[in-house]
Amino acid sequence: MSERLFIFDTTLRDGEQVPGCQLNTVEKIQVAKQLEALGVDVIEAGFPVSSPGDFNSVIEISKAVTWPTICALTRAVQKDIDVAAEALKYAKRKRIHTGIGTSDSHIKYKFNSTREEIIERAVSAVKYARRYVDDVEFYAEDAGRTDNEYLARVIEAVIKAGATVVNIPDTTGYCLPDEYGAKIKYLVDHVDGIDKAIISTHCHNDLGMATANTISGVLNGARQVEVTIDGIGERAGNTALEEVAMILRCHKHLNIDTNINTQKIYPTSRMVSSLMNMPVQPNKAIVGRNAFAHSSGIHQDGVLKNVQTYEIIDPKDVGIDDNAIVLTARSGRAALKHRLHVLGVEMSQEKLDKVYEDFLKLADKKKDITDDDIMVIAGADRNVNHHIKLEYLQVTSGVGVRSVASLGLNISGEHFEAAATGNGPVDAAIKAVKQIIKRQMTLKEFTIQAISKGSDDVGKVHMQVEYDGQMYYGFGANTDIIAASVEAYIDCINKFRK
Ligand code: KIV
Ligand code: ZN
Repeated sequence: MSERLFIFDTTLRDGEQVPGCQLNTVEKIQVAKQLEALGVDVIEAGFPVSSPGDFNSVIEISKAVTWPTICALTRAVQKDIDVAAEALKYAKRKRIHTGIGTSDSHIKYKFNSTREEIIERAVSAVKYARRYVDDVEFYAEDAGRTDNEYLARVIEAVIKAGATVVNIPDTTGYCLPDEYGAKIKYLVDHVDGIDKAIISTHCHNDLGMATANTISGVLNGARQVEVTIDGIGERAGNTALEEVAMILRCHKHLNIDTNINTQKIYPTSRMVSSLMNMPVQPNKAIVGRNAFAHSSGIHQDGVLKNVQTYEIIDPKDVGIDDNAIVLTARSGRAALKHRLHVLGVEMSQEKLDKVYEDFLKLADKKKDITDDDIMVIAGADRNVNHHIKLEYLQVTSGVGVRSVASLGLNISGEHFEAAATGNGPVDAAIKAVKQIIKRQMTLKEFTIQAISKGSDDVGKVHMQVEYDGQMYYGFGANTDIIAASVEAYIDCINKFRK
């Protein structure tokens, strides 16, 4: 019998902190239910004191899911803990995650404090949180760069104060795997009462070592890992859930396993990527489009002779089913509903009818409809409340001619038209939009992604536009890449605060 490793998913907290990845409450509930089906043990649902939206999401997620523990983040501040406890009131199993920076640089520059005072603040936060809940997790922020001897004193003090889980974040992604593993082992060996708490890893990927560090922590005694779907998270991201789960499934001799239903990994990845508008890099381990694609002749020859020659994971084990029914213009509502269900999306009959209509329109334009297409269509009504909408777009472009775009926008019911020339069709179309929306805005980033393979594919466009000192993130998806670009640009403008 393997030893159990608890999966603490922070997609909805550390993952959602990424600019442009923000979800509304309905979308968060959808992800939380999928995480429950995936088999995670703990869902970090938000940082309730940070905004009314986060507070509300923790409440609604607590009502919506049954099995996983719902966790809310706080600083070591009483007000944060009061608000977190209130937000968790409907959770069947609840945990408060409180903590403070423990590295010398955090103590000096962030808190202008001393090591002793930080221990006192940590202890009193844990004691205060224990007045509300039995399950209190303590994080020692920047533990990766905290001196081990001092870290052990902090951890010993918070366990005495009632912490049930102690989180050792490598906040800056600085540690080497053996260094991080040695840190966990140091705590196992030197903290009195360490057996009364679960040690948790929380690794960031700034140097590409998050998963390696996490596994090193587990091999040295950690029994909870903090992870996100697709490894999304601040800067270079967090440890990817799918990587840890599959490493343990592949290396059975470690005798450590999780409760993850690995066949739900791929649908969960698609859902999170689609809702958060965060493309998965094609060569991403486990869930990238190329993760199981063998292109070199030598590899293809080997795989055809025996799949084990070059494949250590059966794609079906992570939910990638090449034989899945391909949806086409002849597919009925039931087939679409089934595919949505496999992808973790449930919807009312009314919404299904609307999605089916959009599905047929897309199926008229392209032969095979992929999972990514379906996720885009299923999320298409996210923009229905936008006050600026693209009504039509016509573009002329080619080699040796200047591109010309003319378009119509509907702004709160009123119709506007403009035409412009530009250095390429996207430039022309955006200049036409700017003739109508006369604001000082600058396009900062523009990413185009074809979501699977064919030339008839839906293209996704992500944009960042700076306006009034703030960055806004927009998304568009269309088989016409110029239209997708204009939609993404308009999506940004619709989000302007004034
Ligand atoms: O990276 C980090 O240190 C964190 C803590 C708030 C747990 O996300
Ligand atoms: Zn973090």
